[in-house]
Amino acid sequence: MATSKTQVLVVGATGYIGGSILSGILRSSQASRLSISALIRRPEQAAKLEALGVKPLRFQGLDDLEACKDAASKHDVVINAASASHDSSAKALIEGLALRKKATGKDAYMIHTSGTSILGDHPYTGTAQNAKIWSDEKDDIYSMEKGHPETYGQRVTDVVVVEAGKGLGIQTYIVVPPTIYGKGSGPFATLSQQVPNLARLARKRGSTPVIESGKGIWNHVHIDDLSDFYLRLFRAVVEKQSWLPSGPEAIFFVESGEHTWLQVSQGIADAMHKRKLLATNNVQSISLKEAAEAITNGSESKAEISLASNSRARADFARNKLGWNTSRGLEDFLNHFDGEVEAMLDELSG
Ligand SMILES: NC(=O)c1ccc[n+]([C@@H]2O[C@H](COP(=O)([O-])OP(=O)(O)OC[C@H]3O[C@@H](n4cnc5c(N)ncnc54)[C@H](OP(=O)(O)O)[C@@H]3O)[C@@H](O)[C@H]2O)c1
Repeated sequence: MATSKTQVLVVGATGYIGGSILSGILRSSQASRLSISALIRRPEQAAKLEALGVKPLRFQGLDDLEACKDAASKHDVVINAASASHDSSAKALIEGLALRKKATGKDAYMIHTSGTSILGDHPYTGTAQNAKIWSDEKDDIYSMEKGHPETYGQRVTDVVVVEAGKGLGIQTYIVVPPTIYGKGSGPFATLSQQVPNLARLARKRGSTPVIESGKGIWNHVHIDDLSDFYLRLFRAVVEKQSWLPSGPEAIFFVESGEHTWLQVSQGIADAMHKRKLLATNNVQSISLKEAAEAITNGSESKAEISLASNSRARADFARNKLGWNTSRGLEDFLNHFDGEVEAMLDELSG
């Protein structure tokens, strides 16, 4: 008997974001109506996924475009949380969904993960844009990305996703998270990126760095609140809600407040000093050049955009249309560094 379950493919299910989305969907009331697969590149990850009722599909990695396309062609919905800047795999996944649509005669959907560094300015090497707050309802994020004078992988990928979707008749949705914090609920990676990376660098240097003045303003969101957003979006997609936009109008922010980079560095310094991982809780300013050498393989532009810029957004769609909200705010973010350092204690102590 043919299955009527919605076929869902998660790419990046072994990661922090993808794993947390996967857990959220598995726990949801929809789970029994779904058949979920995950594209993985490491065979040792298969058993744990199978135990969760998720079908592992092996591939060589995101450059294995034929495997991406083939896997997507067997699914109705792809949730891509593997890489925000790998445009060719995102396109291949959409091409696969187009084959699915042709075979079934039914719509197919791509939920892609980007990041708010797409909004990042160059406060130290260019013009600071600390007053601009982007709204996903009032501003045309897609046109900003498409017309941006600077080539940046995440923007390039977002544009490829929208254009491939439009060209092939696949509905696309792009989720644009800011700094994500808190313990992930996925089966493998449970740590985020920016704060842990800075904590590692602090340990290596013996003091916590902040790039230049650290005045840049960013948003944050707790991983549980982000997973809740994905779940609400996923539900709206499979229920074909008429109010849900797609393509260029479906580039969505998720945030619960704003912080500065200096607040991040001070939070890490205090938490690490408290555990005697650092002799001081002083924060030390480093140049963009030093940061690039230590963190972004020498790319000052990338260090500036992803760890020192202003990137301010409002999750208007989430709050106004999706019924998403959270009681977590700046205080929760500022209080989370202790837990993050605690979760990294073995690594940071070694
Ligand atoms: N964490 C944040 O604060 C944040 C915020 C905004 C945007 N983002 C973006 O969202 C994406 C996912 O972030 P994350 O924090 O979840 O990262 P993560 O924990 O490192 O997870 C990445 C996932 O993608 C898979 N993956 C990565 N590169 C791959 C490749 N070349 N071939 C096959 N699989 C690959 C990983 O598989 P393996 O298990 O095999 O490594 C893993 O499942 C990244 O592009 C990141 O820049 C992150």
